[in-house]
Amino acid sequence: MESKLKKIYKEAEERIKQVTNKEELKEVQVEFLGRKKGEITQLLRSMTALPSQERPLIGKLINEIKRKIQKLLEVKKKEISEKKIEKEYIDVTFPGKKPKIGKLHPLTYTVEEIKRIFISMGFQVVRGPEMETEYYNFEALNMPSYHPARNEYDSFYLDNGYLLRSHTSPVQIRVMEKESPPIRIIVPGRVYRRDAIDASHFPMFHQVEGLAVDEKVTFSDLKGVLTSFAHQMFGKDIPVRFRPSFFPFTEPSADMDIQCVICKGKGCKTCGGKGWLEVLGAGMVDPEVFKKVGYNSQKYQGFAFGMGVERICMLKYGIDDIRLFFQNDLRFLKQF
Ligand code: DAH
Repeated sequence: MESKLKKIYKEAEERIKQVTNKEELKEVQVEFLGRKKGEITQLLRSMTALPSQERPLIGKLINEIKRKIQKLLEVKKKEISEKKIEKEYIDVTFPGKKPKIGKLHPLTYTVEEIKRIFISMGFQVVRGPEMETEYYNFEALNMPSYHPARNEYDSFYLDNGYLLRSHTSPVQIRVMEKESPPIRIIVPGRVYRRDAIDASHFPMFHQVEGLAVDEKVTFSDLKGVLTSFAHQMFGKDIPVRFRPSFFPFTEPSADMDIQCVICKGKGCKTCGGKGWLEVLGAGMVDPEVFKKVGYNSQKYQGFAFGMGVERICMLKYGIDDIRLFFQNDLRFLKQF
């Protein structure tokens, strides 16, 4: 009996040594001291078979071993809980990790800035579909199918008879069809053209369209609003000029330039020696366009304008390649 007890103790000692967590500890405890099948419990039970004079001595021995095993289990339990605390210990005085703060994409930021400026002058922001019909993209804007200006808007045609809009101007028509004057809107959005990719062309880019229609809108209003925009966008002292131009949907038409931000008008590579940078196209809404939407052009006049967001952003920050906007290179994006 004594050697059997020794063996059990040795075994228990060995098993407890290998325990690494609370669950394993419980298993070992049940195995040796469990009330039903524990080895020690079974030994105690089997004592009834012993001659009565041997019982006290053996009983004492078994109880001693039982206590010793209990002691080992307790030591192990303490060890495990201490280890856990060590693992979970947090040094609250340790300096934290600085969270990385996200930023707006420079184009998003530029659109937000353009919106802010025009909203402050009473314009509303509206949007239109990127998939358009030829009617809205061209015809209603005074560009019938034989019109040579259509070549400049080399569009992506879809199988379903629609096309991807090549400018935001069709939204002018959609708004005028639904609303009557006074109208003051800007239309930010994506546009698409079949352009080969280079430093200044990308097949998808962004525009902001503008339209103001009312009873007494003049070319002076156009100049005033757009000059104010240029001053808020590029600095209040920047010289601005309007040059005659042509668009089928405006008459007369103009391009607005700002003085070259790089050479301050002296002439450099960026402005092609001209000293000026083109910022947007604009003009007085052509009576033909009013006719298409059923407005009385004797009563109403309007001005419209359209600008490329990438171009504005490039001029403002001195970016020389449009492809940078679409490469998702963090070294570029982090600078804004
Ligand atoms: N839609 C023209 C383009 O994409 C830009 C434009 C010019 C819009 C003059 C206008 C405008 O509304 O009046 O090149």
